[in-house]
Amino acid sequence: MEERKGFGSNFGFLMAAVGSAVGLGNIWGFPNKMGANGGFTFLVIYLILAACCGIIVMVGELALGRKTGRGAVGAYRVLSKKFKWLGWLGILSAFLILFFYCALGGYCIKYVVLNVGDLFGAGFGSNGLNGAEVFGAFMGNQMEAVIYGLIFVLLTMIIVMGGIGGGIEKVCSVGMPALFVILLICIVRACTLPGAVDGLKYMFVPGWALENGVIKEAPDFLTVLSTAGGQMFFSLSLGMGAMITYGSYLHKKENIEKNALLIVIMDTLVALMAGLCVIPGRFALDPTGSLGGPSLLFVTMQNVFHKMPLGALFGILFYLLVVFAAISSSISLLEVIVAHFCDKARDAGKGDKRKTYSLIAAVFVGLGCILICLDSLGGAGISPFNILGIEKDVNGNLPMWCDCWLDFFDCISEGILMPLGALLMCLCIGWELGPKMVDDECCLEGQSFKMKGFFNICVKFITPLCMLLVLYGQIREFFF
Ligand code: PFF
Ligand code: NA
Repeated sequence: MEERKGFGSNFGFLMAAVGSAVGLGNIWGFPNKMGANGGFTFLVIYLILAACCGIIVMVGELALGRKTGRGAVGAYRVLSKKFKWLGWLGILSAFLILFFYCALGGYCIKYVVLNVGDLFGAGFGSNGLNGAEVFGAFMGNQMEAVIYGLIFVLLTMIIVMGGIGGGIEKVCSVGMPALFVILLICIVRACTLPGAVDGLKYMFVPGWALENGVIKEAPDFLTVLSTAGGQMFFSLSLGMGAMITYGSYLHKKENIEKNALLIVIMDTLVALMAGLCVIPGRFALDPTGSLGGPSLLFVTMQNVFHKMPLGALFGILFYLLVVFAAISSSISLLEVIVAHFCDKARDAGKGDKRKTYSLIAAVFVGLGCILICLDSLGGAGISPFNILGIEKDVNGNLPMWCDCWLDFFDCISEGILMPLGALLMCLCIGWELGPKMVDDECCLEGQSFKMKGFFNICVKFITPLCMLLVLYGQIREFFF
């Protein structure tokens, strides 16, 4: 039977896993949520949740993957009687997230091109329009969005076709350190702008956002907790089998516990660093601009680059950084799908057919991506609320799940499937298989599992409880 090829080195694995974790969620999610939910207090809550849920689920997923040497579907099928089907939930989440991730990745490529145009005063630049006008024009041209989205899908597919060692590991080993360097450059630029300090206060000083009218109402504690939990999940790529899949390619001699810890630390660090790059820029140069979501990336930040000396240059760097972050995540998502089908083909003695399966999966992803691009973030009259005839309330608001196709897929995956996936994973490990299975896997070849006691308690009681809470909070926020 053909060999299942894995990561060439622990560094390669770590960069790929950190690459999966570091993505759009760090850039437009974390900094804003931190500012709006109590600054430093939010950070502390986030870190506590990361310790008793994030690291636990991360260790659990890596162990499940490595023990079985199978992707998400195969891992649960081999190990569990009650949760045989759980891997399929991961494949479904991967598709849904890929739909919007690739569309947005395409937008980022467009913005790199746009800023290159600006730098050279070429016709394909922003032509002196402000951020909102630039984005409006782009959103009015759906065909262009579709083309860029499909370019992003194509890039993702090509890397995944190269396999773990040949494609994913190589790209991430270069791309992640590059991302870090670019991020540092952008931070220095942003934090030295006059007025940048307000951004730092927004992010770090508890209560500042409320006192200064950036938010109208203080969120209640449950909201803060579930916002932090939901963000953590999505940000660490947990609850949908991405880490099971990457773990399945990890060599038995490597230390799971140490790697899990490093992934969590680096993802949080990059989220904080991304905040130091985007938020001060917004407060210095676009004080009324959006603080999160796509409009932060594509309107506010473009305004910031317009007003900054040599802005086009920093614009190119910044959007390149976002493209790197997005692509290293999208390849992990596609790999969740491809790995499963390759496993099946290999078990049947047909070789792994990686290229074929990458192509087929990419075609489906491309279709979803086209839908998101045609929808123009809800502006084209084809969104779920249009189709279902859901009316806006007196304030002109809609529940988030139906306001555009991007949010629809996001709410189902991030809002329901991921926390549910993690909850069930904990039940599977804690109550069906027993935490000893993870302990054994973490202690192979002379390694040790130092937080064994902590892990056992968390995986059985604390983490599932937190997950229930997150699930409740997300459903309340996204669907009502
Ligand atoms: N962790 C990514 C982010 O923060 O943007 C999103 C993500 C990637 C989620 C890969 C899930 C996944 F499998
Ligand atoms: Na992340």
